[in-house]
Formats: sequence, C-alpha cells, structure tokens
Amino acid sequence: MNTATPLPRLENLLPPDCGTEHQQLLDGLLQPQPSINPKYFYDDTGCELFTRICELDEYYLTRTEAAIFEQHADDMSSALANHAQWIDLGCGDCSKTRRWLQYVTPARLIGVDIAGDFLQSCLADIASEHPDLECIGVVSDFTRRLDLADLLAEDEANPPVFFYPGSSIGNFAEADALRLLQGIRSHCGDEGQLLIGVDLVKPAHILRAAYDDSEGVTAAFNLNVLQVANRLLHADFDPANFAHQAVYDPVHNRIEMRLVAQRSHRVQLADRERRFEAGDYILTEHSHKYTTDGFSALLARAGFNCQHLWTDPQEWFGVFLAES
Ligand code: AVI
Repeated sequence: MNTATPLPRLENLLPPDCGTEHQQLLDGLLQPQPSINPKYFYDDTGCELFTRICELDEYYLTRTEAAIFEQHADDMSSALANHAQWIDLGCGDCSKTRRWLQYVTPARLIGVDIAGDFLQSCLADIASEHPDLECIGVVSDFTRRLDLADLLAEDEANPPVFFYPGSSIGNFAEADALRLLQGIRSHCGDEGQLLIGVDLVKPAHILRAAYDDSEGVTAAFNLNVLQVANRLLHADFDPANFAHQAVYDPVHNRIEMRLVAQRSHRVQLADRERRFEAGDYILTEHSHKYTTDGFSALLARAGFNCQHLWTDPQEWFGVFLAES
C-alpha cells in the first residue's frame, strides 16, 4: 500500500445494523430447503480460494473474459465515454479496472465493494499511479440496493460508465438480475453506459468441471461458507459432515452448488437447531448461463440498448456494452 498520498475518500452506505445480515443467513438455513446466500462465501479465506479458482484450468471464465478485454480493448475503449465517472461494481482488489486504465481516462473512479478497508488501500495504490484521477470508495451491499445518485450528481458533467465484469450477474435469480440492471439503468441518465461480462450457455460437462475442479479448490470454497456461518451465527457446523456438489440444471441454464449432508446430524444455529438427514442439502449458489439473445433481452427489459457484444472464438463468454 502506498502511504505517501492521502487515503481516498470512503463513503459507507451499509445499514448501521449488521444484525439483519445475520438474520438473513439464519432465515435461509431454517427454510424447508435450506440455503446460504453466495455473498457469505467471501470472507478472507473465501476471497483467497476464489482467487485460486480464477487461476484453475477448468474455470475458463476469468481467462476468457480477460482475453476478450485484451483482444478488443481498442474497440471497446473507443466505444466508451471519455472522462466518465467509472463505477466498478464489486471491485475487489480493483485489478480489472487497473488494467482498463491503460485504455480509458475517466475523470473519476468509484469502486463499490462490501469490504471497506481493503477497498481504500487498493484505491490508494491506483490514486498514487494516476494523480489526476479522483478515486472514491463506496462500501455497499449493492446486491440489495444500489444508491449512488448523490455521489454521481457531484460530477454531473461526466457520464457514468458502470463496469460489472466476471459474470457476477449470473449469481442472481433472473428477477433479481433484472432489478439490479434496472437500478444501474436508473443511475445512467441519458448518456450512461454499462460494460458487463456474462458467462454463456455451453456443454454441461465443461460447466460441471468448472464448478467441481479436480484439485478440489471449489469444494474448499463451498465448504468454507460453513465456517463463515459458524462465526456469524455461533453455529457448530462440522464441514466433514458435508460434501460439495455442482449440478447443472439445463432447464434454467444454471449450475447449482450444494453442500450435501453425508450423515444425519443436528446443527446448532444461534439459539435454534436444525436436523440434517443424509442426502439433505444446503443450496449455496446459482450460477446462471445466458444465451447472447437472452441477455440482450434482459438488458432491453431493464431499459438499455445493447450497443456492442464481444465474444471469444468459442462463444463461451460475452462482454456486452449497453447504453441508455
Ligand atoms: C463470482 N461468480 C461469478 C462465480 C461464478 O462462477 O458463479 C462464483 C463461483 N462459484 C464457484 N466458482 C466460482
């Protein structure tokens, strides 16, 4: 981290009461079909495991998107607004935006993520490399509510460009994906843009391998969420009682990740208890795969025009540029 320049401004838009977060986790686990929202994957261990997933041979998503960005960077950057307010949704360590800063010159960079300390130090590094770029961090769970209107209005002269890579949109149910896209659209005004990466439908065996890799990294990532639940809910999950499973559902075009109970046992969840029989499972993630027409139609329903689509030669991944 660079300490010579002042830390970038950080806005905290998280609701003050984090208790509701724990309630959401508990409620999911107590449903007839228990589930855990995938946002709980990303504690420090989960983030490290996800970084390793992105480097796996079987997990083609990250390298395919990166290759599309690299191959079409000139085309993309000439289609993107100049001097924009560049909003990186779920920016993590901001590495993807950092690469983009070779090609685009935004006036402002707004990094949005749920992890505040990490965000501020990553933005500080970018700010020291790009002294003319105003960098702002926003700590927010934008998957629940996107509210950047006041912040964007501070720099009304420059259009917003939302950057949402990595196919994270696939982790939403379609109705929630639509709501998020509508939320983005409502911030775009007349000249805003959205550059979004989307994983595409492909043969099931490729998808299954991507979500159940031979080194067991995805299994470790999935099982780690039980440790997160143990910490947040003072629960007593024993990960050895569960096994990772990734099932492809061809009707909904999605991978479903599960944690399947290996034996019958009880788990303490805060002041509640839940029994699992062997074969019962906790649903931990859906990862939807779209056709190019299907995603263009979703963008249209959210009020966007799809201006460009770039894909790889196998059409495994799509990068869409949508405009107001
Ligand atoms: C973050 N998201 C796009 C990943 C995906 O592919 O759905 C999360 C993930 N789950 C298992 N592997 C990767």
